[in-house]
Amino acid sequence: MKVAVFSAKNYDREFLSAANATRHEIHFFEPHLNEETVGLADNFGAVCVFVNDRINAAVIARLASLGIELVALRCAGYNNVDLAAAKKHRITVVRVPEYSPYAVAEHTLGLMLALNRKLHRAYNRVREGNFALDGLLGFDLHGKTAGIIGTGKIGTVVAQILTGFGCPSLAFDPVPNDTCRSLGVRYVKLDDLLAQADIITLHCPLTPQNKRMINRTAIEKMKTGVMLINTSRGGLLDTVAVIEALKSGKIGYLGLDVYEEEEEIFFEDRSGLIIPDDVFARLLTFPNVIITGHQAFFTREALENIAATTIDNITKFENGLTLENQLV
Ligand code: NAI
Repeated sequence: MKVAVFSAKNYDREFLSAANATRHEIHFFEPHLNEETVGLADNFGAVCVFVNDRINAAVIARLASLGIELVALRCAGYNNVDLAAAKKHRITVVRVPEYSPYAVAEHTLGLMLALNRKLHRAYNRVREGNFALDGLLGFDLHGKTAGIIGTGKIGTVVAQILTGFGCPSLAFDPVPNDTCRSLGVRYVKLDDLLAQADIITLHCPLTPQNKRMINRTAIEKMKTGVMLINTSRGGLLDTVAVIEALKSGKIGYLGLDVYEEEEEIFFEDRSGLIIPDDVFARLLTFPNVIITGHQAFFTREALENIAATTIDNITKFENGLTLENQLV
């Protein structure tokens, strides 16, 4: 198939080209796919997109008019695709449901450890010749209660790692799983998790129902000084409420790999530019906040798996074979 890859970075070229070999005719485009750029998909059969491409109803309608038959997501989350519109226009949507839960789970633990032991501050201090320990006091993770919201593939690996650290875990998930139960994870109501956890970590998808689930009301129920980690989707947090809670000390530590308005910020070098987003800029001022730019997935193993599954999805679609990773 002729495939237009949007939001293409050097690593997309490297891994997709290696997985593809000569099977499909792949063209790489740097811009995000959105209403302004959709014309680039003219003369292609499929588009391949990532987390910050905006495949809304208008884009779908335009893709259909250009003859696009397949939207191949090279990620797991699909909150940026209007699936109903795709169905209406008979465009097939496939994704990569699993590529490395370890990548995201291990990054999540990295954020917890760095925040707790203030590694970001220690790194800078030592480089400046400052070996004082004041302000670097951490706590033992051992014995602290973790609250895992969403125990699918990633949440389960997080539970496994936290078990190794000696952290009892509570979980909230409408579909509890036996692997977590066998680890000793206790499924509880969301309110109980919020009230009892020392560390809360989000691993559920973003849906219209759970948008901004971590809002002022939810934060009020948390322990004072709680550690909050979000490597899932930015829209799960009400960021303004989170900033208020950081200012009051209610939230003691915040680790983010995602941000609701990340589309305009992440994945580019903006080091010489002014950040126009005041909410994001405020987050950057807190010493107890660590933000990474949606890099939790970014391991060699994950990129190899993403590329292999994406090419396989496209090949199966082209050959009319069963699509196990089909959304619509
Ligand atoms: P998964 O589909 O295996 O698990 C999601 C779990 O969340 C399921 O068990 C589901 O029942 C549960 N769930 C759904 N709605 C919920 C709610 N309102 N409250 C609590 N639990 C709920 O997904 P997986 O692979 O574990 O990924 C989780 C999320 O991680 C993805 O949806 C995506 O947003 C995010 N992600 C982030 C990446 C990054 O690089 N930062 C990379 C990959 C995924």
